[in-house]
Amino acid sequence: MKHYKLFIDGNWIDTPNKAFVQDKYTGEPFASIAQAEDADVERAVQSAKNAFQKIKLSPYHRYEILFKVSKLLLENKEHIAEILSREVGKPLKESRGEVQRAAFTFEIAAEEAKRITGEMVPVEATPGSENRLAFTLRSPLGVVCAITPFNFPLNLAAHKIAPALAAGNAVVLKPTQQCPVNSALLVQLLLDAGLPPGYINLVFGSGAKVGEQLLHSKDINFYSFTGSAQVGERIRDVIGLRNCTLELGSNSAVIVHHDADIMDTSRLCVAGSLANAGQVCISVQRVYVHQDIYNEFLSEMKKQVEKLVVGNPLDDKTDMGPMISEKEVERIDQWVKEAVRQGAEVVTGGRKMNERTYLPTILTNVTREMKVVSNEVFAPVVVVIPYENIDWAISEINASQYGLQAGVFTSNINLAMKAAKEIHTGGVVIGDTSSYRTDSMPYGGVKRSGIGKEGAKYAIKELTEEKIVIFNLKNQ
Ligand code: SIN
Repeated sequence: MKHYKLFIDGNWIDTPNKAFVQDKYTGEPFASIAQAEDADVERAVQSAKNAFQKIKLSPYHRYEILFKVSKLLLENKEHIAEILSREVGKPLKESRGEVQRAAFTFEIAAEEAKRITGEMVPVEATPGSENRLAFTLRSPLGVVCAITPFNFPLNLAAHKIAPALAAGNAVVLKPTQQCPVNSALLVQLLLDAGLPPGYINLVFGSGAKVGEQLLHSKDINFYSFTGSAQVGERIRDVIGLRNCTLELGSNSAVIVHHDADIMDTSRLCVAGSLANAGQVCISVQRVYVHQDIYNEFLSEMKKQVEKLVVGNPLDDKTDMGPMISEKEVERIDQWVKEAVRQGAEVVTGGRKMNERTYLPTILTNVTREMKVVSNEVFAPVVVVIPYENIDWAISEINASQYGLQAGVFTSNINLAMKAAKEIHTGGVVIGDTSSYRTDSMPYGGVKRSGIGKEGAKYAIKELTEEKIVIFNLKNQ
């Protein structure tokens, strides 16, 4: 079994304690990882701080390194995709897509490294400030701590690391314990691409121990986290005045108006709700369908869900694999059973396939009081709800504690614009589902879905500090 070490201050380091990484389909361990002690975490932070203070990387050098990482990811695509499918449980076709996206995320960040600018500030337009000239400068913050989740462990690590490095920061990466192997592979690629050791440090360990220690480390200047709202709130509580980007959960919704193309839209909704077994922050969880097409739409969705191949993620034919843990399968099973007791109807699925896999599930006759509607399901479960009045559908979407993205299907431009303006989320997608994301766009939510934006150009704003420089020209 392959063992993966920590990477601290330019060296791969082993420790007395190890944890095992489970193959999510077989349930068997397939790799082990060293577990960081307190002193390792402290050395990782100090290594990043020293690198940041002692080694300056020009924007062009950062561009070269990040661009090379992008190429190396593509060269190693098959190997990394197989690791992702084993440790996450996502089908190979999705894992390949994730590697491709991560390569693109590095490529965009590389390009943005060349474009970090301040701006001219017309202070002389204020009475009393005549003959003054002002502009802003953007500088890196120092040490960035990246804490990554299990669902897109590679691309979401890329979204944290690549802009941080593009902006000139040094990084300490703490990946999830459930899918850490791809992070070790990524760190090796960063080194192979020429990143000075010290600019990247890797520590493995639990959130309760290593994560907490990182939150309390005063030498970290910024936290970039993807995960649950509870942990996001904990981060805000601990880090005080330091800044962070928090990409948290959602119970994302889609509106399907009566003028939508039923075949196309139902196909997109099924894909958007069941990708990675529904374990995606922008997964389609609630579908509000106009009552005139509700029955036809629902039966089309059911047909398409029942065609999916559920099974071994390493099999090229598989559309959906296991969930991340047996505990998560048990949780969603309880939520669905509870919803059924409260009156929900199972259209398809509605039970475990085995201890690690939950069948793709459609529920109807649901109410806002049910967990499957109001909480984040993060599982292959989608609820379909009829509506008569678009204002009601929008108000149901906005009643959520979350607000990451929403989708709207209509050919009526006025209705699309109304929905875009009135839906309170970080993004509204017209003609596609909530789960649409391309890696260059600003991505981030409102309410309990988080704060700050990913997408290199936008992330770099968060990962730099702005200083205004003012010349009093009269005195020159
Ligand atoms: C997420 O689950 O937060 C990321 C979704 C994506 O990048 O597609």
